[in-house]
Amino acid sequence: MKSTQSLLGVSWESFQGMSTAEQSACLDDHDTPYHILMSQQFSRERLDALGHLATRIRIISKTREGNHFLKGLLFDRRAMLYFTQPSSRTFLSFSAACQILGLETEEVRDTATSSEVKGETQEDSVRTFSSYFDLIIMRTQLGGLAEKMAWMLSNAERPVPIVNAGSGADQHPTQALLDIYTLQRSFEEQGGIDGKHVVFVGDLARGRTVRSLAYLLTSYDNVKQTFVAPPSLQIGDDIRAMLTERGVEFADAATLDEVVADADAVYMTRIQDEWDTEETTYDLSDFCFGLPQLERLKKTAVVMHPLPRREELSPDIDHDPRAVYWRQMRNGMWVRAALIATIFKCEPEILAYHD
Ligand code: NCD
Repeated sequence: MKSTQSLLGVSWESFQGMSTAEQSACLDDHDTPYHILMSQQFSRERLDALGHLATRIRIISKTREGNHFLKGLLFDRRAMLYFTQPSSRTFLSFSAACQILGLETEEVRDTATSSEVKGETQEDSVRTFSSYFDLIIMRTQLGGLAEKMAWMLSNAERPVPIVNAGSGADQHPTQALLDIYTLQRSFEEQGGIDGKHVVFVGDLARGRTVRSLAYLLTSYDNVKQTFVAPPSLQIGDDIRAMLTERGVEFADAATLDEVVADADAVYMTRIQDEWDTEETTYDLSDFCFGLPQLERLKKTAVVMHPLPRREELSPDIDHDPRAVYWRQMRNGMWVRAALIATIFKCEPEILAYHD
């Protein structure tokens, strides 16, 4: 696979100086996403195509023959899962997605077992992975590292695509893609995502999944976004500025109870207290979803959560069909398989497959 031509020969300084739109364009390889770093790379058209492909993969994989076909697509490729920040779902669903498409995988999850313990930089580690693998899926504590690595690998001897599986408190684009796929499927019979009201609840200041999804939702028509959080954890000004610039209707609310009855989707999140520098306590009484909120929720609405959850989302509602977070998690596997298939340009072959 040839590297994206647009990042080739671009200096790191000029890449950093570009607008997000210009950066996004650099991450493609001939109109196909190559490095997956940020939500801004995904237009409505791309989101529709990705959802369609995920569904095709899901249906094809229902038969043994279908599975055999899918596994043959990328049996000659290898993927590196470089996850130095804790992960259950993202790691496992990427690993399962690779298995669906036949890619072999390796992993580094604990740098105490790699040469980083000998003082090797993360840059050199990633360059090393690129010698042996054809795709690097990475999650790090450090925002911006995936961008740097993508730039470096586009300009290296052996260019390899990078997928950002969560970078600091900044972005988590593949989570947003599976969230969109879940919304597409949930509202399939209700005119799709257009015109819906999405309510975000919890730690909106540091929750990267919310930031990435807030971007993606701007690709849909008349989607209203409401942000429900304690004042110190409200959504950042950069997201507000982006929504204003795109003419998106948005509002804040002080309690979930104020808005729950009007929501089409409630997106719950946990407090990201791993970012706290001192012991902090949060009063979450107005930011929890349980049976009283379920009672007031529309019959057609859904409750989502990127997981892991804590006390903000009561297991009491797990049995309700509107609680879609377990399905959301499985959707992650299909969307990530679709994404990897897109990076390696297997989409036409999958769409041409007849069961
Ligand atoms: C999220 C993350 O890592 O940002 N988890 C996930 O990927 N499903 C959310 C979280 O950790 O709270």
